[in-house]
Amino acid sequence: MKSCKLNRLILCCASLMPVFLSCSQKEVLMGDLNVIPVPFEVVEQNDGMSFVIDRSTKICYPEGNEKMKRNAEFLASYIKHLTGTEVKLTTKADEDAIQLSLDETVGFDEGYELNVSKNLVTLKGKTEAGVFYGIQTLSKIMPITDGTKLAAIPAGNIKDHPRFDYRGFMVDVGRHFFSVDYLKEVIDMLALHNINYFHWHLTEDQGWRIEIKKYPKLTEIGSKRNGTMKDWETKEVDNIPVSGFYTQEEAKEIVRYAAERYITVIPEIDMPGHMQAALAAYPELGCTGGPYEVATTFGVFEDVLCAGNEKTLTFAKDVINEIMDIFPSSYVHIGGDECPKKHWKTCPKCQKKIKELGLKKTKNHTKENQLQAWFMGEVEKEIQKRGKVMMAWDEILEGNPNKSTTVMAWTSPEARVRSVESGHKTIVCPITNYYFSNPRNNKLKGVSSIKKVYDFEPVPENVTEEQKKNIIGAQGCIWTEWTKDSVKMEWQMMPRIAALSEIQWSEPQNRNLDDFLKRLKHQLEIYKAYGYNYKQDIHDDLGK
Ligand code: ACM
Ligand code: ZN
Repeated sequence: MKSCKLNRLILCCASLMPVFLSCSQKEVLMGDLNVIPVPFEVVEQNDGMSFVIDRSTKICYPEGNEKMKRNAEFLASYIKHLTGTEVKLTTKADEDAIQLSLDETVGFDEGYELNVSKNLVTLKGKTEAGVFYGIQTLSKIMPITDGTKLAAIPAGNIKDHPRFDYRGFMVDVGRHFFSVDYLKEVIDMLALHNINYFHWHLTEDQGWRIEIKKYPKLTEIGSKRNGTMKDWETKEVDNIPVSGFYTQEEAKEIVRYAAERYITVIPEIDMPGHMQAALAAYPELGCTGGPYEVATTFGVFEDVLCAGNEKTLTFAKDVINEIMDIFPSSYVHIGGDECPKKHWKTCPKCQKKIKELGLKKTKNHTKENQLQAWFMGEVEKEIQKRGKVMMAWDEILEGNPNKSTTVMAWTSPEARVRSVESGHKTIVCPITNYYFSNPRNNKLKGVSSIKKVYDFEPVPENVTEEQKKNIIGAQGCIWTEWTKDSVKMEWQMMPRIAALSEIQWSEPQNRNLDDFLKRLKHQLEIYKAYGYNYKQDIHDDLGK
């Protein structure tokens, strides 16, 4: 088998073309080094040579390194899934092998170098994470075969590293609940796109989804609602109960699963707004005392946490401490979006706290907005005690928050400018471009839906070079008011997440929409091979 393989010469290097019959009578399909996200540097040998994967191929990894062993297992499983070929793992360096190794000389922590020749593939990373990203690239280079054909990887070199340290994707499980098993599949989808942060939006007006041992009613009462609004126009509610929450053990399982794929799970407990489910469980935490019910409709609700009540602050700190016990992430997101101040303006406790703190209306900040910033700042102290960083949505800027807060700029493209000008580390996720559940953008067909994401450069031009450095990454978001199941989830995600991944990973000078669309054809085949329900209308624009 082996000598037969060494004698093979690929006659034609057109990508993904069946090229010849080998001595084992198996047709060979050639892969393509041009993947999504586009690597930093790709040099194709263009001499027709290739590395053919067959049953004698081995994956070598360094002995005693469990993460590298897992990396090797991931690669073997991708090869099996995409090409049908079973390859073996070994810790002995060998020819006819894909050799995974760590190498300090690779310049970037998440960077890798891939070298493909006829007899050997070497994949080096400075870290295990870098090797993992190289494995993602390798899996996308391989042609998809049905197992009756062999896969060949064209000879060449790739040097690659990410543009941004923060490459995120958010899923809201408050409006609709998704099982642990399905979230693991979502995490696999993120890994395929080199995403390294899974922002898990865990609480909403419509459902509290994470077990908090000190406040059991949050899940006993707050995780259940009686029905769901059917559409915006009529606001009619069906009578189908919706419920679900994650135990702390299940959440830790998600953290573990994600970490194996070099993804950090950032928990979000959204406060002081979007808290109606918590208020239904503990009405004494609201300004009016209720009664409240877990919301069955969508929108922005006036019932929010009472920021002037000592009990509320204790509640918030207790919850965040339990959250930090579950999630090792150095970021903790505490929301801060869409918090109407109507009740605070007349609530004796909130007004007393404003007086006590000496908060005065300024040109840019109302007293109540500053009360919110104070409340979140107190929770931030709790987060900082444990050496972690608070994240919040950009509305927090309305209240003059601490500079230590990392801001997610969602409300508009301008929000990212305001945020970096105010000196905050900023993650760019504008509703106009990176929200994959925005109904208006969902109506866009084919390339127009891709363009909306692909053409939005996260770093604004009209700020100083120093301020530009405060843009630490970009994120896509799926809010699930109208996303009840996996079919809709994936239809919204893919292929737009491929465009997002190129924004997050690739250098702007390497990005080109026409070129991206050429590479997208194979990405869609990968989605198909994994059984993902991607948005199909793009096929028409790509000319199948
Ligand atoms: C948000 O979309 N309310 C952060
Ligand atoms: Zn109040």
